[in-house]
Amino acid sequence: MDAATTVTITGAGGQIGYALLFRIAAGDMLGPDRPVKLRLLEIPQGVRSAEGAALELQDAAFPTLAGVEVTADPAQAFAGANIALLVGARPRTAGMERSDLLAANAGIFGPQGAAIQEHAASDVRVVVVGNPANTNALIARASAPDLPDDRFTSMSRLDHNRAIGQLAATFDVGAGAVRNPIIWGNHSASQFADVAHATVSGRPVMPMLTERMAGYDTALAWLDDEFVPRVAKRGAEIIEVRGSSSVASAASAAIDHTRDWVLGRDPAAGWVSAGVVSHGEYGVPEGLVSSFPVTSDGSGYRIVEGLALDARARYRIDVSVAELVAEREAVHSLGLI
Ligand code: NAD
Ligand code: LMR
Repeated sequence: MDAATTVTITGAGGQIGYALLFRIAAGDMLGPDRPVKLRLLEIPQGVRSAEGAALELQDAAFPTLAGVEVTADPAQAFAGANIALLVGARPRTAGMERSDLLAANAGIFGPQGAAIQEHAASDVRVVVVGNPANTNALIARASAPDLPDDRFTSMSRLDHNRAIGQLAATFDVGAGAVRNPIIWGNHSASQFADVAHATVSGRPVMPMLTERMAGYDTALAWLDDEFVPRVAKRGAEIIEVRGSSSVASAASAAIDHTRDWVLGRDPAAGWVSAGVVSHGEYGVPEGLVSSFPVTSDGSGYRIVEGLALDARARYRIDVSVAELVAEREAVHSLGLI
């Protein structure tokens, strides 16, 4: 067995926390040979719920689980953390946009970023799930200036997986047959799910859609009117149908994101999408945490560069990035960065 990895989960007493803990403890995130120590951070009102989950984790007798601690103290929670999953934040309810959560949630991520810088292990990697995820990641990153940019990511893997799910259903194939969609921009209704480079069973999607929809223009119209909004608004659809925001699919995407980041991905399996700090790639202003196509060899996520963008893609990316700029201005004026 390898040395234990310390994984801190904030909001561990909440819905996504409950779905995440058991999969991490079972080895789904870091593999069956790597023991994990779990640190569960909650606010005082959430501590009993996290303590209950800790009792159940003990009862599940996972061979890879090397310990569980529950605390309301960020310094204790992040001490020596190798991976920090920042989930703890209010979810939206029907009729809200994720950006409506800025005022309620943004204040959480500055202190947590600072605590990570001060207490976490030198190799810490941070995944922000709590919404609005991209801008919360930007705040955490700004509050930990001594850490490199590449330690901070936000989750757009759920959107990426949703795009795969929609394409798989359209072509009546398993999800494993779909490769290389891209989520660009913000984890919000403005995100752009791009299929220009996507393949199904090794064949490019665009000609397949053109054939199925009997024309290129009809295929584009389907993308613009159905596919892109369906993926972008899937979170709202889940809230409407389920009555509360996505949980198990979100936890599963967080596992996928972290596993690929830490363990690496087979290049033959294609790229994935993640919110990472921009250094100007694809014209996205420096410092924004925006979703890009990324690969990973285990040492870090790297943006896939040099992909061609047509005018439609450029326009849609610019719209989503403009929203990220506006969110950055909003948190700046709130004094959070
Ligand atoms: P939840 O309300 O069930 O749980 C949130 C938990 O966070 C609660 O137990 C609460 O006590 C805790 N918490 C609040 N402030 C905290 C703090 N400062 N430190 C530690 N814990 C704190 O919500 P949920 O369904 O688990 O969702 C959590 C967040 O994840 C929401 O913001 C939701 O919108 C977001 N989310 C993001 C994605 C994504 O794709 N990025 C997907 C689904 C949900
Ligand atoms: C999702 O995409 O399911 C989450 O971000 C929750 C939400 O508010 O939509």
